[in-house]
Amino acid sequence: MRELSEIKDDLDCISRELLKLLEKKLDCTAELVEYKKAHGLPVFSQEEDPFHDFLPDDIKGHVYEEELRKIFKQVRKAEKSVQGKSLLDCNIALIGFMGTGKSTVSKYLKDMLSMKEADVDAMIVQEQKMAIKDIFAQHGEAYFRDCESNAIISLQNCRRTIITCGGGAVIRDENVKNLKKSSRIVLLTASPETVLERVKYSDERPILNGNMNVEFIKGLIDKRASYYERAADITVETDRKSVQQICIEVAASLVRLEAEAENERERK
Ligand code: S3P
Repeated sequence: MRELSEIKDDLDCISRELLKLLEKKLDCTAELVEYKKAHGLPVFSQEEDPFHDFLPDDIKGHVYEEELRKIFKQVRKAEKSVQGKSLLDCNIALIGFMGTGKSTVSKYLKDMLSMKEADVDAMIVQEQKMAIKDIFAQHGEAYFRDCESNAIISLQNCRRTIITCGGGAVIRDENVKNLKKSSRIVLLTASPETVLERVKYSDERPILNGNMNVEFIKGLIDKRASYYERAADITVETDRKSVQQICIEVAASLVRLEAEAENERERK
């Protein structure tokens, strides 16, 4: 058996080597993203699951298979974080009518781009210690809208965060102005029929309670359309698309937008 000091030295030495290798792997990941961006290649593609873990083949049946799988999972997470940071440095504000999939998209996108999440409605519920429908019932819509504006103001200093806004948040110009200070605004859309399908079993949205039909939803979407369109930096339709498809589209459009902004800055 080897001496204790020899084993410890070996472990230290391997840790240092590992550090160098991991650094190299993360540098390589950053380089790959830069290459794809410079050549206008998609960083995410429909054919490739963004959450697929790339594992070396010989991990199967390895005596340390369980442990190695865990390590590779963490390495992959770190790579995604490097990739996400190099792709997008700003916040993403998700806007759109109720039932356009903002919360679902946020959950997927935050893992894909390694970002944080903030949900304006959830912040209000937490702050007021009351469900949205109770805030509407007890204090009225104007009070809720003030809470909404305050929550948006409080998010101004967050970084690399996906901000999910309630469907009516962009009706107030000040909210759009405040969101634009640190975020790219992504509008998600869906047909009134799709919206109805997605929200019909929920009674959490006071504006739709008693109005759960296509005519009402269509009317309100039309009334709000110009606010949504004016606020949006990019728009993504969500009808008949998987959350993965939507997020790949969102990420690709945002990366394009950032590249255009960068080119514009360089031209000046
Ligand atoms: C509202 C949308 C809701 C919530 C509130 C009002 C609206 O959020 O903020 O019920 O006016 O469209 P979701 O869009 O997340 O359902």
